[in-house]
Amino acid sequence: MGIALRPIKDRFGAEIVGIDPGLDVDDATFRAVEDAWYGHNILLFRGVKMTPEQHIAFTRRLGPLHIMTPPQYNLPGHPEIFVVANVEEMGKPVGMRRVGLGWHTDGEDKKIPNAGSFLYALKVPPEGGDTMFADMYGAWEALPERIKRRVDGRRARFSRIAMHHVHYPYEPPLTDTQKAERPDVFHPIARTHPRTGRKALYIGRWACDIEGLPADEGRALIEELQDFAARPEFVYRHKWRVGDAVLWDNRCTLHCATGFDDTKYTRHMHRTTLEGEVPV
Ligand code: SIN
Repeated sequence: MGIALRPIKDRFGAEIVGIDPGLDVDDATFRAVEDAWYGHNILLFRGVKMTPEQHIAFTRRLGPLHIMTPPQYNLPGHPEIFVVANVEEMGKPVGMRRVGLGWHTDGEDKKIPNAGSFLYALKVPPEGGDTMFADMYGAWEALPERIKRRVDGRRARFSRIAMHHVHYPYEPPLTDTQKAERPDVFHPIARTHPRTGRKALYIGRWACDIEGLPADEGRALIEELQDFAARPEFVYRHKWRVGDAVLWDNRCTLHCATGFDDTKYTRHMHRTTLEGEVPV
């Protein structure tokens, strides 16, 4: 059976229709899916029924898989799957809670950020818990020329150390060991996608200032870019159903989880994550 594409928001995002629910596909179908991914930044698959093995096998066809660290929220027996959940079994959390609240791309605070991520919904709340995605090709293209000229060719500093207290105000400060494990990194603000050759705005919540600019000026510019990137015209908000799986390209897409009442409802997701490359 051939697949079809149903665009979600013009060129940003597409639903893949007519695919095998376990995503066991032949090479020609896989190539069509891969092309669609590069053409649309994010792909939505509905009515998916994947085992962890199938989830891993499908993602691995896109590239080498990343194992999340620390490993405590990885699925036992399948470390390639990172569990996002507010579920407990025998008094122990089976996954990490409140992951990804705030616009970001996965691994942006590392020297080699993640290329893509594939999130699969096993259980979702009846309200809340949506994920928002923003098109960073579109944001770069729409950015006023005066701002493009200021940032093109410059690198932003991404810093867990500087931003931890902002994004995780209720958590203890980072220890010296944690700081040593996550040193600051610098990435180009206008990033060229290695496969499509298109330029995308590359800033998420760990970006804090800009190399070569006074800290205040850099910080203000980063905030302006972050506000710009999250404008409604670039954003698609996904309301999850059980059996949805969304594959996003971190090199040209920001995403942001949204909250839900986790004292009342359960949200249980499996995510595979692709290794990436040094941004250029
Ligand atoms: C993530 O940031 O990878 C998780 C997003 C979500 O759970 O909605």
